[in-house]
Amino acid sequence: MSKVFYRKYRPQKFSEIIGQDNIKQTLQNAIKTNNIAHAYLFCGPRGTGKTSTARIFAKSIFCQKRKENESEPCTKCEFCTEIKEDNFIDLIELDAASNRGIQEIRDLKENIKTRPFKGKYKIYILDEAHQLTKEACNALLKILEEPPEYIIFILATTDPEKMIPTILSRVQRFNFQRLTQKDIIQNLKNICKKENITFDEPALKKIAILARGGMRDAESILSQIATVNNEISLTNVDDLTHNVHFSNIQEFVADMIKKDRKACLDFIYHLDDTGYSFDIFLANLLEYFRKLILLKESESLEKLFIEENTQEELDILKDQASTIDLDLTKIITELSTALYTIKNTPFPILSLELFIFKNIPCKK
Ligand SMILES: Nc1ncnc2c1ncn2[C@@H]1O[C@H](COP(=O)(O)OP(=O)(O)O)[C@@H](O)[C@H]1O
Ligand SMILES: [Mg+2]
Ligand SMILES: [Zn+2]
Repeated sequence: MSKVFYRKYRPQKFSEIIGQDNIKQTLQNAIKTNNIAHAYLFCGPRGTGKTSTARIFAKSIFCQKRKENESEPCTKCEFCTEIKEDNFIDLIELDAASNRGIQEIRDLKENIKTRPFKGKYKIYILDEAHQLTKEACNALLKILEEPPEYIIFILATTDPEKMIPTILSRVQRFNFQRLTQKDIIQNLKNICKKENITFDEPALKKIAILARGGMRDAESILSQIATVNNEISLTNVDDLTHNVHFSNIQEFVADMIKKDRKACLDFIYHLDDTGYSFDIFLANLLEYFRKLILLKESESLEKLFIEENTQEELDILKDQASTIDLDLTKIITELSTALYTIKNTPFPILSLELFIFKNIPCKK
């Protein structure tokens, strides 16, 4: 069984692309009305569907069974099948990052001169378009100035700011958006069900948080966990992503609340054994205390963190915020300082020890 979900679950039709509604609608209208431009630019963060959409758009244009007024590819005809198998002669996919040389551009220019072999068009999908060299950009511009009627370019990039304005002015541009957490979780759930993987909801939410709107990253974390575990749990997610477990920080703060210096020191000596770096621990701790101070101010501020924490975690945070009687502004100031000094000291652990000594009063 293949566990590389982001390949296995690549959308094959417009209806399978999640989100990007305006883009899907505009492209589908262009197909229905046979009003297709010569050059498109798909911009947006990685893993939001640029390459998938480009292929579906091309497939639909080439599809032999698509009727007038339809915009979805049939996915079954000879051309659709060949495109799915990356094997269709008139759809040419290039990665600008690895096709930057003069020779490649010459080849491209030659290639463009010949008419399509099988379809009505020749479609070029040019990935990482911002990485094109100057020579390549100039060559591309020449082509875009007077494109042969059978040519369609789809440029894709995560970095449109790096594209030169003369190219930007000749393309129809679409901005792909990060996917919502809800959409990502729903999609992960569907995959788990199809793959017979057990999961708990907070774990899927955590994956969605880590993926920051990119579906590929979310699917990739899911498949990595599924390869070594038979269930998707919060601990498994944390293990994989090397975040200091929320529960670890929570424990450390609980020891601080109890003013148990010894337990806190034991904790950081143990932290060293587990291979977590001190600065990541400090950064996580700082983030945690920021939440505590805001929740102590008002529990309603939990809405700020609803995207980052599960409800169980928020309940623990609120509980600790209401019981802690240490000086939170002082702690946050000291943590910020420690985070800065820890990077410039030969004794990183000393920054943590000092933090503990300064902020947990000595028990008599
Ligand atoms: N909008 C989306 N809807 C459904 N799946 C998506 C979407 N965006 C990305 N994916 C998933 O991520 C994988 C990679 O997507 P891709 O289209 O190559 O993203 P990009 O080109 O924007 O980096 C796809 O195979 C699919 O599994
Ligand atoms: Mg891509
Ligand atoms: Zn077809």
